Amino acid sequence: HSEDSQNVLEAHQWLTKLYHHLLRNSKDGKTAYQYLIDRGFTEDTIKKYQLGYSPNSKDFVVTFLEKKGYHPQTMVKAGLLSVNDQGEYADRFRGRVIFPLRNHLGKTVAFAGRALGNQEPKYLNSPETELFHKGRLLYNFDQARSSIRKQKTVILFEGFGDVISADQAGVHNGVATMGTSLSSSQANLLKRYVDKVIICYDGDQPGIEAAVKAAKTMKAVGCQTFVARIPDGLDPDDFIQKNGGDRFQKEVLDTSDTYVSFVMSYLRRDYNLQLEGDRIAYIENVLQEVALLERAVEREHYINELANEFDMSVETLKEEVQRIRGQKV
Ligand code: CTP
Ligand code: MN
Ligand code: MN
Ligand code: MN
Ligand code: MN
Repeated sequence: HSEDSQNVLEAHQWLTKLYHHLLRNSKDGKTAYQYLIDRGFTEDTIKKYQLGYSPNSKDFVVTFLEKKGYHPQTMVKAGLLSVNDQGEYADRFRGRVIFPLRNHLGKTVAFAGRALGNQEPKYLNSPETELFHKGRLLYNFDQARSSIRKQKTVILFEGFGDVISADQAGVHNGVATMGTSLSSSQANLLKRYVDKVIICYDGDQPGIEAAVKAAKTMKAVGCQTFVARIPDGLDPDDFIQKNGGDRFQKEVLDTSDTYVSFVMSYLRRDYNLQLEGDRIAYIENVLQEVALLERAVEREHYINELANEFDMSVETLKEEVQRIRGQKV
């Protein structure tokens, strides 16, 4: 209930400070700090995102929370401690780099702990609680909000590192869904602030597929939706660390595809357009997407494009789009 919630909220604020402090001042914190520096994060960035470290100790955090007077059982439910069969409490995030997850008010409501090496899981996250719903929170929304407003655009990433590297490289309007698929509540939240979204997911197969879904979700809430492509299976973080922020802006963000162009190139991979049957199926699929567009100019644009490419009459394609639209009332 709410007294517990208040305690859990407080404990998260204490631990944000503690983990951040330990990143610099604990023995093995130095390794974690160096890990972040090696990833290309600067000192200022580490501060801004309050990155931290949970020492590789069984009960450092247990002791800290007990001293502060919190019930260990409440802390277990909040996902801050774990408990074994003998009823012994232990630090849940021990040995991990800590990414505090803040709500829209800037309060930490959960943590993600990243392994320092290749251990599984790569990220260990807080469980769902009264304060933290993974499908409702957008990572970094609190800090990105003002530049999202100013630029009338939001960049949607998959992960923490993408948001942080982009911010450090001058792109301050990024938020992330943290690996899960974009929910309609997140989409609606974004829609309240902007009309334009650039989806910038990883360049690997799962990233591309997730981008298709996220694009549909953003389109469905009425956003102008663009999809950026990251080359060579990299993710935005990798790309920025390798090529810098200017190239990220020019080669990735500025050249992002409109929703329909992106869907067209995505569908193309499944069809051999030399074959008549495939060609028809492809056109039919694209028209389904075109039919969903609200603006007539936009529909017309793609109809013309298709008519040109496949040497078909605009009239036929228009009729087909009208037919599809008529079915969807
Ligand atoms: N994620 C998670 N649990 C995992 C893997 C991923 O919660 N086991 C979430 C994290 O929020 C992560 C995001 O999904 O940031 C995207 O996943 P992925 O692309 O695999 O991770 P990266 O962010 O690229 O991680 P890193 O750069 O640290 O390797
Ligand atoms: Mn700047
Ligand atoms: Mn990924
Ligand atoms: Mn990634
Ligand atoms: Mn990454």
